[in-house]
Amino acid sequence: MNRKYRKTIIAGNWKMNKTPAETKKMFEELKVACGKQKWCDVVLCVPFVDIPAAVRASRDAKIAVAAQNMHYEEKGAFTGEVSAEMLKELGVKFVVIGHSERREYYGETDKTVNLKVKKALEVGLRPIICVGETLEQREFDVTAEHITMQVKIALAGVPAEKMRKIVFAYEPIWAIGTGKTATAEQAEEVCGLIRAVIRAKYGARTARAVTIQYGGSMNPKNAAELLSKPDVDGGLIGGASLKTEDFAAVINAANQ
Ligand code: PGA
Repeated sequence: MNRKYRKTIIAGNWKMNKTPAETKKMFEELKVACGKQKWCDVVLCVPFVDIPAAVRASRDAKIAVAAQNMHYEEKGAFTGEVSAEMLKELGVKFVVIGHSERREYYGETDKTVNLKVKKALEVGLRPIICVGETLEQREFDVTAEHITMQVKIALAGVPAEKMRKIVFAYEPIWAIGTGKTATAEQAEEVCGLIRAVIRAKYGARTARAVTIQYGGSMNPKNAAELLSKPDVDGGLIGGASLKTEDFAAVINAANQ
């Protein structure tokens, strides 16, 4: 974390978990469990159908609501899809773009990620752009090349003045839901690389203001160490965001 230049953001990614009633319950529990977060912003990325309940419950909880996906077109014949405008109108503030599960199971590519990032920014949603390498890419020692390409394509055509709205999440695919966390050194190395790619394109002032999270089996036990690294500005937390106690503990680690 580097609180001087950028916000620490702890985001829970619920994936396909929790009903609207369960959403309301967990927001109420979190209000009690975390109190005031002085040093970090808290975001919950909830399923589409939970958004109204989450926005209502978040009003006095200081938690921002995020969607887990969106379409890049404004409207039209895209059965089953949800537009950025629809999310904005509901009170959503952030949207996860290009999560590895979307890339793997739903055919998302770097190019669609870029279209979604531009659309989100256009309507005033803050993108949380996910990037990360497979185990095979890490073993072949092409992590840096792969991440550089993902970041560059995601940001194609994004103007410098919009960069403060962007959040990156470095999520090594081999660490997601596996219980295998990247070491703090590995997380720092890749988060630093993402910042270097941003710096090369937009300059140092812009690069140091961007929040770059780590995600992949982050939990109450490893959060403090990961967050102690200067380029790791928060977390995108899956499994450990589903239980109030665990998620509150990660938030508290970011508040130390
Ligand atoms: P995990 O998921 O914390 O369960 O590994 C992280 C994510 O996919 O965002």
